[in-house]
Amino acid sequence: MRKSPGDVRDSILDYLATMDSASITEIYDAVENRIGDVSPSSVRSWLNLNVPGRIERLDRGRYRLKLEMPPKTSNSDFENIAIGKTRMIAADCFDWLRRREPNSIHAVVTDPPYGLNEYSVKEQAKLRNGRGGIWRLPPAFDGHRRAPLPRFTILTHEDRVSLRAFFLEFGRLLRRATVPGANVLIASNPLLGHIVASAMNEAGFENRGSIVRLVMTMRGGDRPKNAHEEFSGVSVMPRSMWEPWIVLRAPLDGRVQDNLRRWKTGGFRRVSDDKPFGDVIRSHPTPPKERKIAAHPSLKPQSFLRQIVRGALPLGEGIVFDPFAGSGSTLAAANHVGYASIGVERDRNYFELARKAIPQLARLVAEPIDPL
Ligand SMILES: C[S@@+](CC[C@H](N)C(=O)[O-])C[C@H]1O[C@@H](n2cnc3c(N)ncnc32)[C@H](O)[C@@H]1O
Repeated sequence: MRKSPGDVRDSILDYLATMDSASITEIYDAVENRIGDVSPSSVRSWLNLNVPGRIERLDRGRYRLKLEMPPKTSNSDFENIAIGKTRMIAADCFDWLRRREPNSIHAVVTDPPYGLNEYSVKEQAKLRNGRGGIWRLPPAFDGHRRAPLPRFTILTHEDRVSLRAFFLEFGRLLRRATVPGANVLIASNPLLGHIVASAMNEAGFENRGSIVRLVMTMRGGDRPKNAHEEFSGVSVMPRSMWEPWIVLRAPLDGRVQDNLRRWKTGGFRRVSDDKPFGDVIRSHPTPPKERKIAAHPSLKPQSFLRQIVRGALPLGEGIVFDPFAGSGSTLAAANHVGYASIGVERDRNYFELARKAIPQLARLVAEPIDPL
């Protein structure tokens, strides 16, 4: 079959979207893998035609997709409101980050989308109409209504490749906007966290482990579907009893002490003089009184968020950013601990919800939980 120049172009662009950079041999192999035999010269000439342009040539003959930046750097055009020490913005965070001044965010605490389309207009309409779709609508259980969860187990190989591309681009935009030493804490799950961590590493963040949020969820532990009795002693997946939060850091500018002096970042704020910030935090499912204030399907609890938001700025100075703000629970936690914050949310319903929910969540007396 004859390959059109469009096939070569699409394969190069798709491949580079999943890599920070690649050599010409790697690009050629990826194109051949995808569309079969092609001449090396067609790959080389497409690259030559697009440098400079959509592609950058780096040292040592490596190529990468250029981050698209708009001509101006102002981001004041986006609709935004002030709520306490929070600025909440109605926008797509990729657009907003492209316009954000470099070195102007000191910590990130966020709970991103994982299915990539669970927050699309189509899937949100299904969720709002109680039809499920990618959302698993669990039956009432023990007399309680359970919150819907997205079905991460139905993601295909292509979905995973797109997820990696999504976080690679997100990471590269975020890297530019964060100061050296900025902590980036990302809510994750045991099935997909490794993809996010590796894409964010490739985008330039250092991997600094994870925080364990100890919480029992409804996921896992079940016996095989339609064969419960035959395999009554089997759980298909371990019953999930914790939620991983990926911990990353923008590379330091000098030693930790230099970074702390210059950028106010480079470590975690201690819980107290004799208690360092720890990476296992006892938690609970989001309490009903918080769900009543902010009916977002992925609402995280204040008691947990307040601890990690507080810990994320070592000196308590700077701006905490949540690019996937939802109903604003991270920003409410930042308001509660007295930090300045910025949140971006693309869905108009959730933006309006956050406007109302942030002050109420920030004021709330969080449900007590025994610290470890
Ligand atoms: C997992 S939820 C976060 C919910 C949040 N933890 C809370 O407690 O309300 C992810 C949010 O990101 C939003 N979102 C998805 N893609 C986005 C994008 N490109 N820019 C901004 N927001 C986005 C979705 O609409 C959704 O509200």
